[in-house]
Amino acid sequence: KKLIIINGPNLNLLGKRETNIYGNLTFTEFYDSAVEKYTSVSLEHFQSNIEGEIIDKIQEVGFSYDGIILNAAAYTHTSVGIGDAVKAVTTPVVEVHISNTFSREEFRHQSYISPNAKGVILGFGLQSYELAIQSFI
Ligand code: DQA
Repeated sequence: KKLIIINGPNLNLLGKRETNIYGNLTFTEFYDSAVEKYTSVSLEHFQSNIEGEIIDKIQEVGFSYDGIILNAAAYTHTSVGIGDAVKAVTTPVVEVHISNTFSREEFRHQSYISPNAKGVILGFGLQSYELAIQSFI
């Protein structure tokens, strides 16, 4: 199975950004161990701080890959465009968040992704991504 993790803005700073919320591991450290662990899937990773690049990537993979694991980060709460892209493609999208967005500020309770996601996994730290991978196996 062909899966891609798409990460949105500021997730390139994992390991040094608000470590009390997001932990000490860099995404690369997590990703490398996931690639090693889940040998039955072909895993890719894409990160961008730019809304349009995230939309481009969803369009590019969204008619051929078996799954998209999407942490749109702050764009989750603002982007009608990313929400529409998720709706437009045929590849199932699992929405992921590292933190429990419902235990945080009110503005993080809204998601433009959730209505069109296959499912949502949040609050388990970087393990949220792993649970999303497992959901496709
Ligand atoms: C996040 C939650 C968002 O509210 C926040 O803007 C992020 C990360 C998470 O993974 O917990 O950047 O998507």
